Parts: sequence; structure tokens; C-alpha cells
Amino acid sequence: MSLLTYQNIKKLFFKLEPETAHSVAGLGLRAVQYCPSTMRYFKNRYFVSHPMLEQKIFDRVFHNPVGLGAGFDKNAQYITAMPTLGFGFTEVGTITPKPQSGNAKPRLFRLVEDRSIQNAMGFNNYGAYYALQQLKKLYFFDYPVGINIGKNKTTPEIEALNDYEHLFRAFKDYGDYMVINISSPNTPGLRDLQNESFIKAVFDIGKSITTKPILLKIAPDMSSQDAINLCKIAIDSGADGIIATNTTIDYSITDNPNKKDFGGISGELLKEKSYNLFRDIGKEFHDKTLLISVGGIDSAEEAYRRIRAGASLVQVFSLLIYDGPKLISDINQGLVSLLKKDGFSHISEAIGADWKE
Ligand SMILES: Cc1cc2nc3c(=O)[nH]c(=O)nc-3n(C[C@H](O)[C@H](O)[C@H](O)COP(=O)(O)O)c2cc1C
Repeated sequence: MSLLTYQNIKKLFFKLEPETAHSVAGLGLRAVQYCPSTMRYFKNRYFVSHPMLEQKIFDRVFHNPVGLGAGFDKNAQYITAMPTLGFGFTEVGTITPKPQSGNAKPRLFRLVEDRSIQNAMGFNNYGAYYALQQLKKLYFFDYPVGINIGKNKTTPEIEALNDYEHLFRAFKDYGDYMVINISSPNTPGLRDLQNESFIKAVFDIGKSITTKPILLKIAPDMSSQDAINLCKIAIDSGADGIIATNTTIDYSITDNPNKKDFGGISGELLKEKSYNLFRDIGKEFHDKTLLISVGGIDSAEEAYRRIRAGASLVQVFSLLIYDGPKLISDINQGLVSLLKKDGFSHISEAIGADWKE
């Protein structure tokens, strides 16, 4: 058996500080991008491309519906390596107009027994200009990419719209969709922008600047009715889709002695909370807009549950850290089996199936 299994690599990674491990993994992904034969090897191993899973969304072919959640590739540096991890698409960011270093360290924690992560990163990123240069290099790379945007920490709430306007202009010709992130818990006041007037204003401005699809990413820490109301406002204002959910600030979700009273929790602990909110959003909107489900997805069964509830696409972040890229190929292969088991010949027949019976 190869020593280079993810479980062996993980043993080394988990000996490092979480943020150091992330940087080392990032270096590895950047190195892989210069090595076509290594990329081919891992792509053959983990990337599932199957006619039952292939969808055309936003005028782009998604070979499989499992994407990387925002926050892993904050600076758009690893896009070409993503197929080697099995992902059918990726979402870069959150990118802010100006570079910023994020919150004080330590700000990333493993809740190992819970197979979860707690982070208070605070949009550490090199800013829009740097990300743009990365995206410009990818002109001929045929792979779906979302661009997730947020405001700088130092931008007062009252001027937040200017930040989003700046970012719409910067990225208007890049990527396949943009995501308005007003749901991270780690930028003070950001979640307060999850209100009717801001959502209307930000979509108005976005739609006047770019023809790219614009999606809204929402937090899990609200009632289903509030989430449905927000999504409705977004859709009425021109949103092309909803991503649910970001991390939770419900710290009562675990008794883990390593948990903190700041930051957002993701991974297994978020699974039910994220599913429950997504299900209610799916019931309401599965036939009205594109839905992406994210939060604690750890298996083909869980991904399939989100698809049946209305998701066209799903995203994974935390459980990639625990299980490695095999999880992504397992999810995709498992989805094909689950679709067949339920008598579906294509994923599109299963999207929102819970609401069609
Ligand atoms: C370390 C870390 C950083 C994250 N950064 C971002 C971010 O910058 N923007 C964003 O929209 N979501 C961010 N997220 C949230 C994820 O995209 C995802 O919504 C959340 O983690 C739930 O999915 P998961 O349980 O599969 O991790 C971050 C998550 C983690 C763990």
C-alpha cells in the first residue's frame, strides 16, 4: 500500500497548527499545478465525470455537482489543482477590495472528536487586484469557478455597498458566478447586512454592472421563515441562486472542550442545522432558482439528501480536511448509485424530488 495515502498525510498535517497545515497543503497544491503528470494521476484517481451527473448551469458544463466551499482558496491560487481533488467546480474567496490580514491568530481550530472546524479567519486575503491577476492567467482553463466577495473589515457598514460595487466591477468579466457573502460571522457587522434594503441595493448595483450570475450566501443562524424571506427578497431583486449555509455561531451545538466562544463552526456539527434550513429553503425555491447546499456534507447519502431537497450543486470544505479527496470521488460515485437505486437516469430528475412526490 502506498505511504502517500491521505490518512498518512493527515497524521502529519494534524501535528501542525491548523493554519500552518493549510499553508503547507496550499504549497502542495500550487506545486502540483506545475506538474501535469501528477495532476493527471490524481485527476484519474479522484475526478468523477459521469453523464448522469453532468449539468449545464450558467452556460457552463459541471462534470459533477460537488464543489469546494469558499474560504479554502481565498486568493484564487489553486484553481487548476481542483480537479485533482475531484471537485466539479470551485469557489474562490472571500475576496475583499483591499488586502487584509484577517483576525488575530490563533483563529483556526480543529474539533477533532466532532469532525468539525471552528474558524475566525476574518477574510484574510491579498485583495481584489491579486485575485484578478490569478484569474487572468486561467483564460483557457475550462472549469467552473465562483467568485465570492465581501467587504473589508475597516469599511463601515454604511459604506459597505461601495466595496461590493468595486468588486462587481473588478470581477465582472471573470469566473462563472459571483457570490455576495454577507453571512460570515468573522467580520463585525457583516451579518447585519442580511436585511431587505441592503440585499435589494447590492443586487441592483451588481446587476447594473455585470451579466454574470449573482448568488447570495446565507448564514444558518436564523429561523427558516427569516431565511425564506431573505431569499425571496434576493430572488425578487435578481439573484440567480442561493448558497446555504455558512458556518454557525451556535456554540451550544457541542460540549467539545476545545471549542471557542468566537468564530464559526463547520463540519459534522453543522450538518443537521444546515440541512434543516436548506430543506425549508429547498421546499420553497427548488423550482424557482438555483440552490447550492453546503454545511457538514460528509457522504454521498448526505449530498443526495441535499439534492432531493432542491440542491443542484453541493459544496464541501471541512470534511475534505478530515477525509481527503477520496471523499469527493466517493460522494460522486455514491450519487450515481443512489440515483440509479431511485430509478433516476439523471441528477436533474432528483433535484427537489422530495417536493414532487
Ligand atoms: C477555515 C474556513 C474558512 C472559511 N472562509 C470562508 C469565506 O471566506 N467565505 C465564505 O463564504 N465561507 C467561508 N467558509 C465557510 C465555508 O465555505 C462553508 O460554508 C462552511 O464551512 C460549511 O461547510 P463545511 O461544513 O463543508 O465546512 C469558511 C470555512 C472554513 C472552515
